[in-house]
Amino acid sequence: MAVRLKTDYCKGFISDEDVKGIIPEIEGARKTLENGTGAGADFTGWVRLPYDYDKEEYARIKAAAEKIKAKCDVLLVIGIGGSYLGARAAIEFVKSPLYNTLKKDTPDIYFTGNSISSTALSELLEICDGKDICINVISKSGTTTEPAVAFRIFRDLLIRKYGKKEAYERIFITTDKARGALKKLADAEGCETFVVPDDIGGRYSVLTAVGLLPIAVAGIDTDVMLKGAYDAAEKLRAASFEDNDAMKYAAYRNLLYRQGKTMEIMASYEAGYAMMNEWWKQLYGESEGKDGKGIFPASVIFSTDLHSLGQYIQEGLRNMFETVVTFREPTADVAIPYDEDNEDGLNFLFGKTMFEVNANAEAATMLAHYDGGVPNIVLEFDKKDAYNFGYAVYFFEYACGISGYTLGVNPFNQPGVEAYKKNMYALLGKPGYEELGVELKKRING
Ligand code: PA5
Repeated sequence: MAVRLKTDYCKGFISDEDVKGIIPEIEGARKTLENGTGAGADFTGWVRLPYDYDKEEYARIKAAAEKIKAKCDVLLVIGIGGSYLGARAAIEFVKSPLYNTLKKDTPDIYFTGNSISSTALSELLEICDGKDICINVISKSGTTTEPAVAFRIFRDLLIRKYGKKEAYERIFITTDKARGALKKLADAEGCETFVVPDDIGGRYSVLTAVGLLPIAVAGIDTDVMLKGAYDAAEKLRAASFEDNDAMKYAAYRNLLYRQGKTMEIMASYEAGYAMMNEWWKQLYGESEGKDGKGIFPASVIFSTDLHSLGQYIQEGLRNMFETVVTFREPTADVAIPYDEDNEDGLNFLFGKTMFEVNANAEAATMLAHYDGGVPNIVLEFDKKDAYNFGYAVYFFEYACGISGYTLGVNPFNQPGVEAYKKNMYALLGKPGYEELGVELKKRING
């Protein structure tokens, strides 16, 4: 099994009786998810995705990745939220947060269209200067403003650089199979197109073309990744509560929430986990934060953040629990050398490796935080590789569906995301939003 859940550091907060008490609810939530009888059931295609994916499209994704690798120095991945977080998390988890600066025979990959920062966009335009470029634009709706604006700018760059025909051969579109502006453009210009399935929402889509194409371009073995997801599905969909760590994770976080632990901090001691944290925050934040309910998902990378948020976690408001992601094996390791003079007093570390020191920092911190009143759930992975990534994605998605139904919300919609969009369109003068625009400007200007 690639992910193991440990709850030793929840003792004193959660009793065996508490766990027994919530099992029927968790089992009910799992049944609701599996039978497709709950709210948002139309968006649960990801549950069967590891068996039920489109094999012909998967072969095209792999072929397109090879084409992109051969054609360009830089791949621009344009998308926001669920349309980029998973791919970026995979690349940083399996390769490195420094992927672009590593020695490699695959293109640099930049993620854009995930903000409206003029500075970030200008910097990327500068980076692209003199480079051969391909674009993978990803938007299920095809209408999201951030990626649409970035796509307009980079498409224009490609057309000026290569001419219309070649530009469109360098643009790969991942969108709805029938609807939206991107689909229309793909049909008109003959761009290679991949589909975001109707029954899979953005934040559950990393194992579809949304994630697979950029991940394959980075040189990650997607077959191995999908095998990880398949094994997770086989295990977690069949196992009973006693043997099912996704169900237990859902149970413990709901029990802690009911005790007033309204914030979950995902903690890892690996810098390569930072984007995985971001992916997880979107998955759980958008799935559970609604109807006035939900655990607030936060994240830290230790020991870095022990020197910033560590103080608060140790002694601040006791409304939180941590979920600590730990790795059994390092991806790489460095031995600590002996120093004759020992002026830094570190010879007591001689003979140890950085991985061992990090593991001790982890054990020490968990005890300190637990003693300080912060329960810790531990999720142990074997290592940071493609198989474990695939397994972890399915694990977190499956637990999220169960957890959301246990909480009593629809884990597959995101109605709250529309509020800022409406206001932004009104302020920018989008046709149809004139009246709201006048009202908002009055409020802003007093
Ligand atoms: O999870 C979700 O559904 C969202 O985060 C979307 O992924 C995000 O809003 C981007 O939407 P789209 O792919 O339609 O541009």
